[in-house]
Amino acid sequence: MYALAFDNEFARDVRAGLTCAQKTLPCRYLYDDVGSALFEAITFLPEYGLTRADARILQTNAAEITGLLGGCLVVAELGSGTGAKTRPILEQIGLRQDVLYYPIDVSSVALEHCERELAPLGEIVPLQMSYLEGLRDVVEKRQRGERLLVLFLGSTIGNFEPDAAIDFLTSVRQLLARGDALLLGTDLVKPWAQMIPAYDDPAGVTAAFNMNLLSRINRELCADFDLRQFRHVARYDAEAQRIEMHLLSRRNQVVSIQRAALDVEFLAGESIWTESSHKFRPDQLTAMSRMTGFRLERQWIDEEWPFAESLLFAD
Ligand code: AVJ
Repeated sequence: MYALAFDNEFARDVRAGLTCAQKTLPCRYLYDDVGSALFEAITFLPEYGLTRADARILQTNAAEITGLLGGCLVVAELGSGTGAKTRPILEQIGLRQDVLYYPIDVSSVALEHCERELAPLGEIVPLQMSYLEGLRDVVEKRQRGERLLVLFLGSTIGNFEPDAAIDFLTSVRQLLARGDALLLGTDLVKPWAQMIPAYDDPAGVTAAFNMNLLSRINRELCADFDLRQFRHVARYDAEAQRIEMHLLSRRNQVVSIQRAALDVEFLAGESIWTESSHKFRPDQLTAMSRMTGFRLERQWIDEEWPFAESLLFAD
């Protein structure tokens, strides 16, 4: 029956995640074409201030940010998406030199969009690769005298477990040379009343974003999840400083996932943990920078929606 055994990474990851005691699914799988469109819709929700805060800080401080970096700047962005937030940075750089921008993303749709939008500003070289592979590529192409500015915006670092975040930043640092910089966007700890609705909005857009993961498994792995038998939950773990998204089973049920060669049993109330979104305190960013071989040069904080942009120097 399961003749076409799991021959791809998604199938393997689904199988591994759903056979753990606490069922989990890696959050990167939230972003297929439907999921990416739903995430973009989330960024327009009044309850989700994160993306607007990120964009506001960049818009307001682009001149200062780029002014702190001398030399001939080359920009690489990890998880560029459509690159919309990056425009003011590239515009500022364009005032003093030719722009060279490497958007790195796994989504080809996002990269095409990005190239179309930003092409008038300079040379755009899209790299459809994982973050570190892409950055390695950028570093190999580096010319003498060029200085790298790596952008890691949108609090994507918050999706990593704390240890993994440290490992990741350490790997980024190892690819960089002295004088290069990393601009890191991070969502900050804020009152519950602000955090919870951002991940459980009344219109149900975030719920749809989360639920789509089950639809995706149905579509791509020939599974029979009945979405009506699951429900979206967002909770805040204050000690771990993270929002967690879960999908809760409404009843005892068995789901079969053909292409993962798997039948999964769910108890009523049991959850699949689909995403963690860690929140930070400004001083934690100083510590994290030091631990990973960077120095925090400057930090900009949005007051309306507590969010920090930190400029880290490799030295
Ligand atoms: C794109 C990872 C920053 O964690 O806030 C939005 C993803 N999840 N709503 C976040 C997300 C639920 C988002 N990041």
